[in-house]
Amino acid sequence: MIEYRNVQINYGNFTAIEKLSLTIEEGEFFTFLGPSGCGKTTLLRSLVGFISPASGEILVDGKVINNEPVEKRGIGIVFQSYALFPSMNVFENLAFGLRVKKLPEAEIRRQVYRIAGKVAISEDQLSRNVSELSGGQQQRVALARAIVLEPRILCLDEPLSNLDAKLRVDLRGELKRLQKELGITTLYVTHDQEEALTLSDRIAVFNHGTIEQVGTPYEIYSHSATEFVCDFIGDINRLGPGILAAINAKEKRRFDTGREAFIRLEGIETHPGEHLDILLEAKVLEAEYYGALTKYTFEAAGEKIKSIEKSRGTTVCKAGDKVPLYLDSRAIMQF
Ligand SMILES: Nc1ncnc2c1ncn2[C@@H]1O[C@H](COP(=O)(O)OP(=O)(O)O)[C@@H](O)[C@H]1O
Ligand SMILES: [Mg+2]
Repeated sequence: MIEYRNVQINYGNFTAIEKLSLTIEEGEFFTFLGPSGCGKTTLLRSLVGFISPASGEILVDGKVINNEPVEKRGIGIVFQSYALFPSMNVFENLAFGLRVKKLPEAEIRRQVYRIAGKVAISEDQLSRNVSELSGGQQQRVALARAIVLEPRILCLDEPLSNLDAKLRVDLRGELKRLQKELGITTLYVTHDQEEALTLSDRIAVFNHGTIEQVGTPYEIYSHSATEFVCDFIGDINRLGPGILAAINAKEKRRFDTGREAFIRLEGIETHPGEHLDILLEAKVLEAEYYGALTKYTFEAAGEKIKSIEKSRGTTVCKAGDKVPLYLDSRAIMQF
């Protein structure tokens, strides 16, 4: 278990992390999510030992590790840039840490082959120079190099950011499977909402050196605690006074028309359905057809509102159509 207690981290006069407390459970896949510059890497590096907090404590398994040297902490790290040893072949990159530990040669070979198998590095690739590998293969090697040392904690800082979209999704799936198989407590840093939602057991959403919300992907997305979280984690509609007044009048509800409310695109449909308890009249302004999905922009009560729907073959709406809009009132968030 990892615990940050009132941790503050400064760079000179600038406070990058402000009195932050957080607990990460044994075996969890835990993600630090937030926009660039909000302090994710800083907090991760303080656990690894590259940065010391100005105040507060970092504990692992109940023991304060603030003053423990990096190499004693038993933490594996993978960065966005692969940071492999360019002059060594893949085998030697993987064997490096084991050699430092002075393991017998036969044991080193056994462990390197075992890990290579786990991350789909072929025997042929083991003898290649790392510079001959593609980005995705290099990142596999970086991951293997971290886990071959059997760390008690694995820290991954934007490990997929340098890869192209398709590979990112493939490696994401492999990473998740591997983490579950090995059961290593994993801290994952990303600015990518989709990565955070698909990979994590829990997510902490960062904003300017503080945490706005900690929760499961479902909680973060469907029960966002703050406007920042709601907006950062997915597409939303901002419902202004016009629509809120129309909802209040028709449905006898009590949303505060003095403040914006929010609803996700999929919380709005042009067909009635279970839980869709609010009905508004609308006009289609724009229909973007994506095949499986159609994205609509409507006008209702003088405001623009968007939805995303599964396309239903013959019933795709066109610009200018008058349509009913059904909303799930439970999906409306107001902070
Ligand atoms: N070595 C440093 N010296 C001074 N400021 C830094 C340093 N590293 C990071 N920062 C600042 O600290 C803040 C948090 O940075 P960082 O932890 O890298 O954010 P993230 O990983 O979320 O993008 C940023 O404002 C960044 O400019
Ligand atoms: Mg970073």
